[in-house]
Amino acid sequence: MASHSSDAWLAGVYHAKTRSDLVHLYDGWAETYDADMQAIGYVHPAVISGLAGRYIQNKSDAIFDAGVGTGTVGNILAIMGYANLVGVDMSDGMLAKARARNIYTDLRNRVLGEAMDFADGSVAAIVSTGVFTSGHGPASAWDELVRITRQGGHLIFTVGTVVWLESGFEKKSEELCSKSLIEPVETTPIYHPMPFSPTESGFTTRAHVYRRR
Ligand SMILES: C[S@@+](CC[C@H](N)C(=O)[O-])C[C@H]1O[C@@H](n2cnc3c(N)ncnc32)[C@H](O)[C@@H]1O
Repeated sequence: MASHSSDAWLAGVYHAKTRSDLVHLYDGWAETYDADMQAIGYVHPAVISGLAGRYIQNKSDAIFDAGVGTGTVGNILAIMGYANLVGVDMSDGMLAKARARNIYTDLRNRVLGEAMDFADGSVAAIVSTGVFTSGHGPASAWDELVRITRQGGHLIFTVGTVVWLESGFEKKSEELCSKSLIEPVETTPIYHPMPFSPTESGFTTRAHVYRRR
């Protein structure tokens, strides 16, 4: 079986024991992350950008990229004409790569799951790819993401199918819907986000779209 340079990095980030281990791994991976993920057919940015294009009509609306990484989603959104991209990530190494693209107006080192220093209703949409997955962003982060999204705005996320059930995402979705804070708009079929990865090709995900109420 062919081995890819992504294999060791993916094994590392999915099994990191502490937050500082995870940050350290992403800091180290930042340099080759884009090429490594392209080599294994990483499809999340295309899926989420397509959904963003379906729901975010105004190209100057503020779009908040949660776990921006190197800016793979922003890269596509900017090509599509979206001009007000902001984002957070906890890895300075990844943020430096995103910053170098010169497409984000505001990038901050913040931890999803902690308080976000963005005002209530200050963004029109949240996008997030590859972050709500094993050992990464927690379901509790959705409370803050919902708070900063304006009424009528959209939250467009990928969520791993295992963590959806086992790490509280289904429960969080039900809680926020029952409080009438969000309503589900659409969920994609299950798909493989890294189809050419020898180690992670069986990993599965869905993308979820909610409207802020
Ligand atoms: C697989 S990468 C995805 C990056 C980008 N969204 C993409 O699709 O290419 C996961 C990113 O989430 C960040 N991350 C993981 N957990 C986080 C958390 N709790 N708060 C902020 N960033 C987090 C990592 O630093 C990393 O940049």
